[in-house]
Amino acid sequence: MHDNNIIKLPTIILSANKDGDIILAADIIKQGGVVALPTETVYGLAAKGLCAESIKKIYQAKNRPQTNPVILHVSSLEQAYKLVNLSDLALRRFEKLSSLWPAALTIIAKKSNIVPDEVSFGLDTVALRMPNHETTLKIISLVNQPLAMPSANLSTRPSPTSASHVLSTLNNRIDAVLDGGECSLGLESSVVSIFDTQVYLLRLGTFSQQQIEDALEEKVVLSLNNKAKPLSPGQSFLHYSPKVAEIKFISFSEIMTYWQSDCSILLTKSQYELAASLSERPKDSITLNMPDEAIDYAKKFYDALYFFESAPQKPLILVEPEHKGGIWLAIKERMSKAADKCT
Ligand code: TXA
Ligand code: MG
Repeated sequence: MHDNNIIKLPTIILSANKDGDIILAADIIKQGGVVALPTETVYGLAAKGLCAESIKKIYQAKNRPQTNPVILHVSSLEQAYKLVNLSDLALRRFEKLSSLWPAALTIIAKKSNIVPDEVSFGLDTVALRMPNHETTLKIISLVNQPLAMPSANLSTRPSPTSASHVLSTLNNRIDAVLDGGECSLGLESSVVSIFDTQVYLLRLGTFSQQQIEDALEEKVVLSLNNKAKPLSPGQSFLHYSPKVAEIKFISFSEIMTYWQSDCSILLTKSQYELAASLSERPKDSITLNMPDEAIDYAKKFYDALYFFESAPQKPLILVEPEHKGGIWLAIKERMSKAADKCT
């Protein structure tokens, strides 16, 4: 998509702590504008989800490939049910999963005819989520329709977990950003499709496969990286990639190859302590230590990537954490994608 139609007005910065700003954010969206809003996962770029013209502005502002559909965010189950067309089996699954909402969990089901083509581009399905964020739920209620909300970053770049991350790629391309501080989880939602005979987990998040299987009382098939025939279009695009000259994802066993170079390195605190006990890094090289708890690592990950964008440009080495399972799976998947330069 070309950039010639983007909004050139300065982006207004609003505060989620001011009632007047919350109402203004809702008004801008009601009038067809695009506003970045905080959620518990990452900031999303919101527009009226039932209005084709408004949704088009999201694609322009993000420079997002038109074939990558967006999630509709709802503030009530009543709103959600109007957007889907469920078989008996899908209805049972939808009831079980939506009982976990509001949460970092996106459900894909067959869409009803009120969902505009601009939401799901040629697919007969729609992705739905109720975010666990009081202010954004209030804005959805004020606008009185579901909000289309992909992550609020230029396409291919890391997802934003603060208002300043949003501005670093979308300043002057969107009407406003509502600053709600740092996102509490920091990774995008888990995405599950329920319309087929099988249930598929299409994107890992802080909700684990086990938690989803427990809620559904059935097995879920993991389908994350099917580039040839992706079940989720987003799987075929470059993602989460910071603007740095070069980026590599390595295992900790390779660390000494890079330790004495001037590369920037991102690793866990325990990995740092081990490597630093063997030798010091060169003066002026940048090393960023990350928490050893998955939930804390996830919260800081995109912030670390944005930090390296603004640091002196050196090749960036992402070191695979040695921790296993749970949220670490979602973190490692983001790391490997961030380092994957081929689309
Ligand atoms: O946590 C989140 O999910 C955040 C916040 C803002 O809610 N949103 C987000 O949206 O990450 P986005 O657009 O960056 O990622 C949505 C993913 C994309 O990979 C897209 O391809 C997939 O969901 N998706 C959307 N609709 C789909 C559909 N009908 N079928 C399959 N995949 C779909
Ligand atoms: Mg995204």
